Amino acid sequence: RAFLMGLAATPIALSAGCAAGQSSPAGTSSRPLPIPPLATATTDAAGTRHFTLTAGAGSSEILAGKSTATWGFNGSMLGPTIRARRGESVAFTIDNGLPEATTVHWHGMHVPARFDGGPHQTIEPGARWESAWTVNQPGATLWYHPHPHGSTEKHVYRGLAGLFLVDDEVTDAVDLPKTYGVDDIPLIIQDKRFTADGTLDESDPTDIGLLGDTIVTNGIAGAHLPVSTERVRLRILNGSSGRMYNLGFADDREFHLVASDGGLLAAPVPLTRVRLSPGERAEIVVAVSGSNALLRALPHEDHAGLDRGDAAAFGVQDSFDILELRPSENPTGSPALPASLATIAPLDPTGAAVERSFELQWFMINGAQMDMNRIDFSPTVDTTEVWTVRNVDNWPHNFHVHDVQFQIIDIDGSPPPPALAGWKDTVYTPPGVRFRLALRFTEYTDPTFPYMYHCHLLLHEDQGMMGQFLVLEPGQKPAPMAMDMSHQ
Ligand code: C2O
Ligand code: CU
Repeated sequence: RAFLMGLAATPIALSAGCAAGQSSPAGTSSRPLPIPPLATATTDAAGTRHFTLTAGAGSSEILAGKSTATWGFNGSMLGPTIRARRGESVAFTIDNGLPEATTVHWHGMHVPARFDGGPHQTIEPGARWESAWTVNQPGATLWYHPHPHGSTEKHVYRGLAGLFLVDDEVTDAVDLPKTYGVDDIPLIIQDKRFTADGTLDESDPTDIGLLGDTIVTNGIAGAHLPVSTERVRLRILNGSSGRMYNLGFADDREFHLVASDGGLLAAPVPLTRVRLSPGERAEIVVAVSGSNALLRALPHEDHAGLDRGDAAAFGVQDSFDILELRPSENPTGSPALPASLATIAPLDPTGAAVERSFELQWFMINGAQMDMNRIDFSPTVDTTEVWTVRNVDNWPHNFHVHDVQFQIIDIDGSPPPPALAGWKDTVYTPPGVRFRLALRFTEYTDPTFPYMYHCHLLLHEDQGMMGQFLVLEPGQKPAPMAMDMSHQ
């Protein structure tokens, strides 16, 4: 598993300023939070916006003063933030400068299956892949990451991940902080482990994957954020392999959840904790004037679905300082929090065309492991389905579906709490709990290329806790391609 130093390290832009004389999290030497740059695009005569991404190896200063071999898009680690509007046509040219095959998946995006970047859209080393679609979904914080069959954890852990922000009229109009990098802050949270010389430690994954003892935000450990406004909006992605975060502030201050995976909630939800399993996003708004606000990962009341012993052994119950928000002395005013944010039309499960059930257990879904050559089922386009998802295991899992944003109908028969009542593409499924989801499949039928559903704990996904579905026209016959399995 050699790292190649193919690309020169491109430093990612740092946010300006650093308040002196304030304490740093956990005794680290604190550096300002890096803000991933916005990706640039060229617009062609037809109005399509063209982006280019190159996956490559480099080295990064994740730990202050140490150099770590990492992988990144258009740089040494993570990738630029892509931003596009609903209704816009986007096109991506992706070059693979890595020493092995990869893919680029648009997590949370409604995109034709052949452009989805799942395990069927492999890009060989030195090869190029093109992906294009018209953005057609509510404004949201989505992300992109590799999805090569069996090695997703390694590729993401080494640094390949970036945000994909979708804007629309609703997100434009809503009175929330929205100046990127100023009061609208992307925050990619990951956990990593290092050997003494600063190399990423990929040894000894636990049964829930590579669990790190160092929290890395936007690519560095020990970050702080100088805040120049009264309130700040954090677009938080859990980009970790297997770690679940129970996020809150050290002083238990209240914040408001304004968006989940697929976009704005109906109204801001006041909380003191929000839990994110791998792949999930939360947009929160927090007031920071006055004193420092320390965002922290706190112990889980339910031990994150593990038994006590495993939770202790894996360090899942440890608390970690994630990001210190440092207010300025004369903050700029922020808009008052709106009473309502977006209209979320409920999907109607009563007319569901099909009900399906999914049992999650030990690297399998419904007793089967992922088979690239097996289509598990095929929803019909323009129908609503109800999926019952149950973790029948003693291990934590979550459940992610490509192509659609879904709604949680109920959890063990009760309506979801407000924080889980918006659009979701990934849901944490603790042991023993039953979730019913409503999903509506629209456009993009394809008899050949499937979409994935899987546990987003990346080790579990790599171990085969994944299945595939085709979206078909009524009466259409599946015609999947036989896959060359040489990448397994
Ligand atoms: Cu975030 Cu199937 O992936
Ligand atoms: Cu799992």
